Amino acid sequence: MANTILIGAQWGDEGKGKIIDVLTERAQWVVRAQGGNNAGHTVEVGEDRFVLHLVPSGILHEGKKCVIGNGVVLDPVALVEEIKGVSERGISVAGRLFISDRAHVVFPYHRMLDAQGEARKIKGEQIGTTLRGIGPTYGDKASRFGLRMCDLVDPEFPALLRSRIEEKNRILSAMGAPVVDAETVLDSVREAMKILGPLVCDTVPLLFEAVRRGEEILFEGAQGVMLDIDFGTYPYVTSSNATSGGASTGSGVAPNRMDRVVGVLKAYTTRVGEGPFPTELFDENGEQLRKVGREFGATTGRPRRCGWFDAVVARHAVMTCGVDEWALTKLDVLDGFHTLKLCVAYELDGKRMEVFPANIREVARCMPVYEEMPGWRTPTTALTRFEELPAAAKRYLARIEEVTGVRIGILSVGPRRESTLMAGPRA
Ligand code: GDP
Ligand code: IMO
Ligand code: MG
Repeated sequence: MANTILIGAQWGDEGKGKIIDVLTERAQWVVRAQGGNNAGHTVEVGEDRFVLHLVPSGILHEGKKCVIGNGVVLDPVALVEEIKGVSERGISVAGRLFISDRAHVVFPYHRMLDAQGEARKIKGEQIGTTLRGIGPTYGDKASRFGLRMCDLVDPEFPALLRSRIEEKNRILSAMGAPVVDAETVLDSVREAMKILGPLVCDTVPLLFEAVRRGEEILFEGAQGVMLDIDFGTYPYVTSSNATSGGASTGSGVAPNRMDRVVGVLKAYTTRVGEGPFPTELFDENGEQLRKVGREFGATTGRPRRCGWFDAVVARHAVMTCGVDEWALTKLDVLDGFHTLKLCVAYELDGKRMEVFPANIREVARCMPVYEEMPGWRTPTTALTRFEELPAAAKRYLARIEEVTGVRIGILSVGPRRESTLMAGPRA
């Protein structure tokens, strides 16, 4: 049995939700270990389309158990909405969704501070956050000022929350922003806990026993390597570890219990929000990627910035996450292109760079070194086996494997479950 960590290998939105849905077949557990409702994971099942933000995508498979781990920051009101949304569509979470009592809670003041933080920055310094309060909540966690799910059921909770709100209101007032009414927040949390209360537990022994029984766990990464707080394009990142290490610290399942890392990689690159993006396109090719790939945010609806495939980014994921195999998605979006470009390195001040620089001002000056490859100009969505791929598509995939040093084990050629090719031995 293998415990698998699935990570996004670029700037998020690689198609993690779809790949999780495909892999859930074999797993008993699906665990979210970082991020919050800044994530938007799309799963298409038949005619149905689900966008999940906090609930693990495994919930769509009957009988599979799902965990929201300690590393997640959780907005209780948003989670209740999401649970109601899936319940209305016939999916029950009873006995299947477990929430860590150690997960930190996102309160309205976190969202307000997120918005204030963005509004007060000068143009060019805004991060373009999802405004879900993610950064301020992780900030409070690190400052040891946060409240966790276990606190919400403690008799002391009203006093704990009131003192937090008093402090945050002082900050909000100083910013000239509206303040928060403690009693309104308390009421909304009490209301949410009617639904969430029974789901909150210590998920550490739950997962420990699952591992002991040899049950398979799938860790559903959110965001992507380049948005990781340590390894991403800091400060244009999210506030958690989206690299594979986050699966362990964010769930309590020890690193030596992890067996495999699957990196989800889009056949091209996208980014939503601000920050450097070396292969970004501002021409009709970028437009074509956005249009054909329907590159609009699943959480905020913002248009995603689009660009060519970047092997420097993919290799950064390989090094920081220990990627064993790629799940390459959205190959079908490239079906209409005459010529494709693939960035194999950067050039900075006349020097070739094979690795991603830490300094974002340097990243902003990096020029992609491109290789050109012919497109295939035939539809791939209906294909079911690797062997049926057009020769030019095979060459494109083989080149990605060569320049990243990792094999493509899963290939996605459409949003639905059926549009997935599993690699056997290949010529
Ligand atoms: P996530 O955040 O990584 O789960 O990805 P998102 O759900 O935010 O964005 C991926 C989008 O691409 C969703 O609309 C998916 O339905 C869609 N998608 C996933 N895989 C494929 C694919 O192979 N081809 C096409 N055309 N769309 C895909
Ligand atoms: P999934 O899991 C793409 C981006 C935001 C912003 C930056 C910080 O669907 O791949 P935050 O609200 O986290 O403080 O925003 O990170 N971002 C994402 N981009 N996919 C996501 O999640 C993202 N979650 C956050 O756009 O640039
Ligand atoms: Mg997404």
